[in-house]
Amino acid sequence: MPSQLLTHIFQDLQIGIKTRNHPYRYASLASISQNTPTQRMVVVREIEENTITIYTDSRTKKVTDFTQNANASLLFYNYEQMKQIQLRGTVSIDKGADPNLWNTISEKAQRDYTTHLAPGSQIDHPKKVAYQKEHIHFCKLLFTFTAIDYLEIKQPHHIRACYLLENNHWEGNFIVP
Ligand SMILES: Cc1cc2nc3c(=O)[nH]c(=O)nc-3n(C[C@H](O)[C@H](O)[C@H](O)COP(=O)(O)O)c2cc1C
Repeated sequence: MPSQLLTHIFQDLQIGIKTRNHPYRYASLASISQNTPTQRMVVVREIEENTITIYTDSRTKKVTDFTQNANASLLFYNYEQMKQIQLRGTVSIDKGADPNLWNTISEKAQRDYTTHLAPGSQIDHPKKVAYQKEHIHFCKLLFTFTAIDYLEIKQPHHIRACYLLENNHWEGNFIVP
């Protein structure tokens, strides 16, 4: 049943993103700029219904991209089980600083969002990154997906299914891989 598989996909994602070193903790996030796609790896922080939370620096290129074109794709790959999950949707940027959330981030990780120069700026040496604790550029990307394409490579037959969120309800079918 495609609906049972969908339940399984959501459970797999929920467990994976909360498990250290699980392949689903990381995903490739695609944005579009001037008709050209760009992908980058991100850490998946949370999944709640059909919204996934990602943390980033508000000065990154992806934030500029999503501000101009909200369309996005997030790709998960479990290389141990050869399972691929492609999600399609849109990204909104949540810059509302939540001090409680900020305080849950380790001091070392907080540095990623407080660099003196914006991510992508040219420097002479990797050592030459300075931090300004008082200038926090932390923000959340909220990726809301409405389409899922799932593929599992296995014998005797591969399993592929696609789902669309329509009227708040996931409709899906198995399809030819
Ligand atoms: C394993 C891994 C995890 C990453 N996680 C994040 C992340 O959660 N958020 C983020 O903004 N960048 C993350 N990055 C860095 C991005 O891939 C990217 O280099 C950076 O965000 C700048 O992207 P942009 O210039 O396309 O916006 C991660 C990179 C790797 C290799």
